[in-house]
Amino acid sequence: MITRRRFLGQTGLLMAGAAVRGQSRPPLAAAPAGSLNASTLKPWVDPLPILPTAKSSGMRSSPENGTVKVPYYRIAMREMQVKLHRDLPPTTVWTYGDSFPGPIFDTRSGEPLLVEWVNELPTRHFLPIDHTLHGAEADKPEVRAVVHLHGGKTPPESDGYPESWFVPGKSGTCFYPNRQDATMLFYHDHTMGINRLNIYAGLQGLFVIRDDHEDSLNLPKGKYEVPLLIFDRMLRSDGSLEYPTSGDEKSPWVPEVFGDAMVVNGKIAPYLEVEPRKYRFRIMNGANGRFFRISFGDLLEFQQIGSDQGLLAAPLAMKRLVLAPAERGDLIFDFSAHAGQEVLLKSDSFELLQFRVSATPVNDASSVPATLRPLARIAESEAIKTRRLTLDENMDMVQQSMGMLLNNTPWHMPVTEKPVLNTTEIWEFVNLTEDTHPLHLHLVKFQILDRRRFDVFDYRSKGTLRYLAPAMPPTPSEAGWKDTVRADPGLITRIIVRFEGYTGRYVWHCHLLEHEDNEMMRPFEVVSA
Ligand code: C2O
Ligand code: CU
Ligand code: CU
Repeated sequence: MITRRRFLGQTGLLMAGAAVRGQSRPPLAAAPAGSLNASTLKPWVDPLPILPTAKSSGMRSSPENGTVKVPYYRIAMREMQVKLHRDLPPTTVWTYGDSFPGPIFDTRSGEPLLVEWVNELPTRHFLPIDHTLHGAEADKPEVRAVVHLHGGKTPPESDGYPESWFVPGKSGTCFYPNRQDATMLFYHDHTMGINRLNIYAGLQGLFVIRDDHEDSLNLPKGKYEVPLLIFDRMLRSDGSLEYPTSGDEKSPWVPEVFGDAMVVNGKIAPYLEVEPRKYRFRIMNGANGRFFRISFGDLLEFQQIGSDQGLLAAPLAMKRLVLAPAERGDLIFDFSAHAGQEVLLKSDSFELLQFRVSATPVNDASSVPATLRPLARIAESEAIKTRRLTLDENMDMVQQSMGMLLNNTPWHMPVTEKPVLNTTEIWEFVNLTEDTHPLHLHLVKFQILDRRRFDVFDYRSKGTLRYLAPAMPPTPSEAGWKDTVRADPGLITRIIVRFEGYTGRYVWHCHLLEHEDNEMMRPFEVVSA
């Protein structure tokens, strides 16, 4: 196996990251035959797809209370041919429902729903399974699926436990109580050992929760509220999805995946016609491994109003927002100063989406209030326990990466994290690796306390903790409620979490999907007092 940096060097993907659309550049050094250089595709020829809203098919009894009826949705996972770009042949993807990506759930806080997720996928996988990974052994069915609602405060039996997968022809019904604040969640596959492949194939979609408070704010809504699910892919010139392999047929797993085709709501480099007024963009990073650094035009100012778990305390003026895989950003951009112009949505040098602003002035009745909601910090003194958890890279004898671990403990070991229901804990992530890992806990929302530089060598060799600098508070952009936090190399990242909602078995993991699938995931169990 190869380390991330060697992998990047070998495949020239670092170069790809620096490439500018429209400029010619040499093809990827070690790119497999038939791969497509996505920068050769003509940008802004496809309109941005507006994703359909999931429709319920009747009412069913609530699992919480049989006398109450709740909306019931039936969503099938299917293989589908989609046009990612006007000039590309159709691409085979896996998706939920009839659209790619899947339909958006438009739900309300306090209004529960039932979703029956039906596996109608074929029985063969079209991406390279690594049977040496735990949970993906050759005796397991090739195609398996289980759905998780990321950021959902969901009872354990509906949370999509990675081992609760089901095969084509079967289904799993999940109950989402929606007892949580307005925000944008997303649903995605979570199958043990092949999660990265199922999501790369397309199994993810958005899930919006609204509430009365947010409604009262007069933010841009309706067609002026645009959800954007963004991910990168590698493609072949025949339109098919390319997923890189290690070159070792027995063990094709690679530590991280980056593509040069930026897909927004299912299209590469689409355009959106907008009016010269305020829009709300709800952006989700659905990439396997790529971090997006979102900006408008040449660093035009926008406002961030929310993050993973809902609104910030107040709007935040900014020019660039970093989103790691699974992080969400809720943004307001005002096109009124750009009537008749074009504005690009970018991530570094990648151009994601073109806005065509109409010339005629419009009346914009929406507003962005100076404060969005009260957001109390959780006091550190509330925590009854602090857990120090390491992020480890496992090296073999010749210092090659064997994969990453949480607290040096593989998935199958007994549960070690057992927080008590309705108590507060501090989790300290001690990053001993050279990567930033976006860490996610199921069930809960949390706050970031701080990040602090420490001596990694001392920690590794002597097990002693020596801080090298004062603690840094979270950036204002991540000072609201979160469900995913970036743990940077050489830093201890501390979060504070109230374990509320349900007792039972959940997971926490790195949201770089290649890491997650190769042991960077652990169970935790909320226990009753
Ligand atoms: Cu996006 Cu385990 O989650
Ligand atoms: Cu989750
Ligand atoms: Cu990771």
